[in-house]
Amino acid sequence: HTIYRKDYASPSFFVDTVEMGFDLDPDATIVATRLTMRRNPASRGKTLVLYGESLRLVALRMNGKALSKRAYTLGHGTLEIANPPDEVVLEIETVTQPSQNTSLMGLYVSNGNFFTQCEAEGFRKITFFPDRPDVMATYKVMLRADKEKYPVLLGNGNLVEQGDLGDGRHYAVWEDPFRKPSYLFALVAGNLVCQEETFRLQDGRDALLQVWVEEGNLDKTQHAMESLKNSIRWDEERFGLELDLDRFMIVAVSDFNMGAMENKGLNIFNTKYVLANPRIATDVDFANIESVVGHEYFHNWTGNRVTCRDWFQLSLKEGLTVFRDQEFSADMIGTDSGRAVKRIEDVRVLRQAQFPEDAGPMAHPVRPDSYVEINNFYTVTIYEKGSEVVRMYQTLLGRDGFRKGMDLYFQRHDGQAVECDDFRRAMADASGRNLDQFELWYSQAGTPRVTVATRYDEMSNIYTMSFTQSCPPTPGQPKKLPFHIPVAVGLLDSSGRDIPLRLQKGGTEGSSEGVHANDPAPTTMVLELTQQTQTFDFVGVLEQPVPSLLRNFSAPVVLEYDYTDAELGFLMANDSDPFNRWEAGQRLALRRMLSLVREVKQGAALDASLLDTALTDAFRVTLTDTSLDPAFRELALTLPSESVVAEQMEVVDPQAIHAVRRFLRRSLAQALRAEWLAAYEANLTPGEYSPDAESAGKRGLKNLALSYLLDLDESDGHQLAQSQYDAANNMTDRLSALGALVNSSAPGREDALARFYDEFENEALVIDKWFSLQAVSYNTDVEAVRALMRHPAFSLKNPNRARSLIFSFCSGNPAQFHAPDGSGYAYWAELVITLNALNPQVAARLARVMDRWRKYEPALQRNMRNALEDVAAAKSLSKDVLEVITKSLAN
Ligand code: ARG
Ligand code: ZN
Repeated sequence: HTIYRKDYASPSFFVDTVEMGFDLDPDATIVATRLTMRRNPASRGKTLVLYGESLRLVALRMNGKALSKRAYTLGHGTLEIANPPDEVVLEIETVTQPSQNTSLMGLYVSNGNFFTQCEAEGFRKITFFPDRPDVMATYKVMLRADKEKYPVLLGNGNLVEQGDLGDGRHYAVWEDPFRKPSYLFALVAGNLVCQEETFRLQDGRDALLQVWVEEGNLDKTQHAMESLKNSIRWDEERFGLELDLDRFMIVAVSDFNMGAMENKGLNIFNTKYVLANPRIATDVDFANIESVVGHEYFHNWTGNRVTCRDWFQLSLKEGLTVFRDQEFSADMIGTDSGRAVKRIEDVRVLRQAQFPEDAGPMAHPVRPDSYVEINNFYTVTIYEKGSEVVRMYQTLLGRDGFRKGMDLYFQRHDGQAVECDDFRRAMADASGRNLDQFELWYSQAGTPRVTVATRYDEMSNIYTMSFTQSCPPTPGQPKKLPFHIPVAVGLLDSSGRDIPLRLQKGGTEGSSEGVHANDPAPTTMVLELTQQTQTFDFVGVLEQPVPSLLRNFSAPVVLEYDYTDAELGFLMANDSDPFNRWEAGQRLALRRMLSLVREVKQGAALDASLLDTALTDAFRVTLTDTSLDPAFRELALTLPSESVVAEQMEVVDPQAIHAVRRFLRRSLAQALRAEWLAAYEANLTPGEYSPDAESAGKRGLKNLALSYLLDLDESDGHQLAQSQYDAANNMTDRLSALGALVNSSAPGREDALARFYDEFENEALVIDKWFSLQAVSYNTDVEAVRALMRHPAFSLKNPNRARSLIFSFCSGNPAQFHAPDGSGYAYWAELVITLNALNPQVAARLARVMDRWRKYEPALQRNMRNALEDVAAAKSLSKDVLEVITKSLAN
């Protein structure tokens, strides 16, 4: 059933202290809990409600007396006590079976060690508890376990005591001084080792930092440790926020549903976001680790010290923390173009994943109004669009204004569980700005469209920009009100330079207060749209300019403007805003791809006669412009992905899109063959590997060149890839070479795959790459994927492994997945059903692959509907999968 935001009621009881004792055993862990609770004065007469799932209740005592079966009711996932006194000490004994817990929520076993995952509602799988984020308590926890099997016992906060129990077992007592909601509870027990370091904080205190891993992985923890130290420094410097504990631990686990978890003082991470060294990790892995370590660390303030009142407010902590980790990564790169590269990468994710979500059956506002299963709402909308919403405050208020708002937010709400509205109010009050209309970013789903028209008047030297905004309907929201949209703009003169901007005084409504810049004639201005249509007049414009619109992607909208090809080429070469240089190239490429798709659908054969030189010329200029960072060139020379092209089409034909993209890549490879080769040679990174942004950028461009050259599928390309593979001293170069070979018909491809497997057989994260590289290969069809599932190294129980093959195929290989006979969809249905029984969260993610099924050609749509209905008809579907499938079929 559905839970609504409007039904929020404060808890009937608060919990002040939680004491817990764990007797850890994989098959029967005994959990003894003592809660001191007090009635919420606002809830006279209400029953005491605790949540619990998959628990065996052994004993229950209230204020020292055992409760008889009549004194409480065990419902579906609840335990209710009627007529409790106002002060309650509740003692609960429960038993759980961690070894059988394949959902990876609550307490579970991975490779023989114990881990927990409590967000969002996993604590209720450990004990009965008012498991909701507005119930905050201090925790004291004693862990007891076999000393030999589980030498390491970790909990939240500070270690206050440890010792031997005499019977081959030992114990540790952990105390967390900070009140926290139950979703931040964690424990770890097992055979682990750590890299540790003492770190001096800005206020002079010393903190102990640890990264815990399985034995044999200590050669892979250095980068995570560096990232942690950088995160601590950065939060001190940028936001004045300090680490509040004496000890901060990161633990790596190989079975994990998501990326990582910010449990107080004891962050638990998917191994994928901790373990790295040049032999096993790529440049992208190194960058992801830095950003996820930052993300979880930053949660300590945005999430833990100030938490969410209820799960509808999830983006309060997630959107804000993603914004913070994005800024952190950008600052770590340091250079201006590095910041732009990071911005482009983030916007790419938004467009590729969030825009489709916002246009599909699961579309929801950044602050949803309802859900069936909260785990389905850890989405790109909550995270990435949520981050864009936070970024817009910074764009509107400036960096200093934003910082003042953050300071006020912590001053007001430290130690509280609050709402998105409280954050917006802090931003408004700290800056003295009215941000009422800005609320619509939280309440309305859908991606706004902003259409721009321009006019230049030679006589008066006035350049006019007219904006019209709209937002398509989304489930449950047929009509939308206008958003408050910051649009950063600039104007280029015919030599490509920025024109100083001056707006007509007393001009059209909104124009004067819609602009702020201290500079009397800035070259970038933030225009504020608040109405459906708005016009801005720029004065003193001496010649017809080219507009640069939505600089640095100042708002998460689709911006439409009728650029000519020539203008796009001009912006690509000249715009002072690097984001828009990239954007211009993408617009041009997308335009060509869409027109080629139309040609193909009208029966044209894909050959050179269909191409003009605009795109090739623009690509040549970028590729050979050595004043541009290699990392930037790599992004600018990457064609929009097949899914981005698909989103632009009324009716999607995945085969045509795939054929067009490959054709265009081959054409660009052919036309620029010499330039690609030159770029390849010029961007070699000889010597010792380093993951720094500059070297990574060079490798990125070099390996992009390699992939273009391999698309020609000729023997010199094969040889180039083969020798790169053989000579590589790092995973980035090795994996890129292998990927290029596997996508070609190179004679050495099978051999290279086999050698790669043999060399990395014992490195699970690398074997994931081996599976996923094959899953997304042009040459891999559904039968080949089924064959890979029979490989001894494959397992459905390990989420990373399942994702590496199944998700990579279903969402990363559209041409094969959308095979006209429907075999891809049948495979999908089968796997959703199988995974549903093992791990509902992972299954529900896979279910989302079908989100856009109504956009496909009728024949494909019929097959997709059949597959969806097959899943819907399956027995014992979890809430997770049921919600996704039901919404897909309904919308
Ligand atoms: N709060 C975590 C993060 O953003 C994500 C945990 C989500 N887990 C879940 N089972 N839904 O870092
Ligand atoms: Zn997070």
